[in-house]
Amino acid sequence: MLWGGRFSGKPDDTMRRFGDSIAFDVRLYAADIRGSIAWAGALARAGLLTDAERDQIVAGLEQVRAEFDAGTFQIKPGDEDIHTAVERRLGELIGPVAGKLHTGRSRNDQVATDLRLYLLEQMRALDAALADLQRAVVDKAEARLDVLMPGYTHMQQAQPVLFSHYLMSFFWRFQRDRERLADVARRTAVLPLGCGAIAGTPFAIDREALAADLGFAAVAENSVDAVADRDFVAEFLAWAALAQTHLSTLAEDLIIWASREFGFVTLDDAYSTGSSLMPQKKNPDPLELMRGKAGRLIGHLAGFLATLKGIPSGYDKDLQEDKEPLFDAVDTLALELPIAAGIIRTLKVNAERMAAALDDGMLATDLADYLVRRGVPFRESHHLVGQAVKRAEALGVSLGKMPLAEYRAIYPAFGEDLYAVFDFGRSVAMRQARGGTSPDAVRAQIRRARALVGG
Ligand code: ARG
Repeated sequence: MLWGGRFSGKPDDTMRRFGDSIAFDVRLYAADIRGSIAWAGALARAGLLTDAERDQIVAGLEQVRAEFDAGTFQIKPGDEDIHTAVERRLGELIGPVAGKLHTGRSRNDQVATDLRLYLLEQMRALDAALADLQRAVVDKAEARLDVLMPGYTHMQQAQPVLFSHYLMSFFWRFQRDRERLADVARRTAVLPLGCGAIAGTPFAIDREALAADLGFAAVAENSVDAVADRDFVAEFLAWAALAQTHLSTLAEDLIIWASREFGFVTLDDAYSTGSSLMPQKKNPDPLELMRGKAGRLIGHLAGFLATLKGIPSGYDKDLQEDKEPLFDAVDTLALELPIAAGIIRTLKVNAERMAAALDDGMLATDLADYLVRRGVPFRESHHLVGQAVKRAEALGVSLGKMPLAEYRAIYPAFGEDLYAVFDFGRSVAMRQARGGTSPDAVRAQIRRARALVGG
């Protein structure tokens, strides 16, 4: 134990287990050892360790790391957390000189440093996984540039769009996710080490050199703030909740479209499951989990904010509660993002089913625009086409099949050429302004996307 001196009684066993974090913070071992090696270097530079002592400590720490890497490290009762476990083992390996490592340091600045180091590495991996998902989206969008589909608002048919245009909408969501992640990383790469328990360290520690050693871009400016600052955890959880919400939207779309009623897409067998009872079933389980896990990640953010809200300044043990939601969010997305990419890459797009779902009614806006081009104010043309829709419904015909005489009865400026409007490809092709769904605009969009992710 690291702190027994002032106690005469022993801790209650259950209390000890309640306080232990080793079961989950063991994954910080590499970050913890990296931080301690840098700290040993800083102590030597400050004249608190001889070079020989530093080398002994560093060699010992490397051995501890090798044991973790090999899976031979033995966690013992009394190893309260990863910091305690590493220091205990270091002492067994190199003797009393191990006791010099914690000079001028507290577990408060240590754990904050470890968690930042760990998260920075995880964020790099998550960014790479997101970029790969973006490449899957662009590849599919480019390959199926010919496919038309209904665009929906309020889950009702709205206007025709290219399937590629719809799919690319996710590229830009993921792009914002990556921008936000980079922003979180900027504030995560700030070094708490050298701030001690709360007041700073009394020794001549060069914190800038320490930051450079550990790859931090800056040092924390205030020790009171540094030891309790978990903004980066809250920001990461907010990031994860939003990224997961994007995945949930994609999942929901695909689940509906994979239904027999829509049949717009077919999921690959690799990403589907069967039913133990109904032999015909092919279920989109991974997409349902993608949708469901949004609730879980939103919960992590809300839960952790509630923890933060309850504590005063300075380190409080409540902060140990930062780890499990953070690790779970990292694990969830690390596992899920490659699955999302796989689902997109293997997705079968059923162009004929999408085409069959296109209804003339979706071109009513184009018909209003036809009148606009003849000088009719849009508000008026909107109303006139609304009347045409009502009339067609009463006659039981589609807009494109309603006789010209009926149109003329509503408004005399309707001409024979109005029927040219009832062409879904033409409707899409006309939306050429940047950000629109015309094939040229989508090609330009894809070019700009490729410039961001390569491939
Ligand atoms: N396991 C603790 C945590 O995760 C480490 C820091 C403990 N510091 C302390 N003063 N008890 O927060």
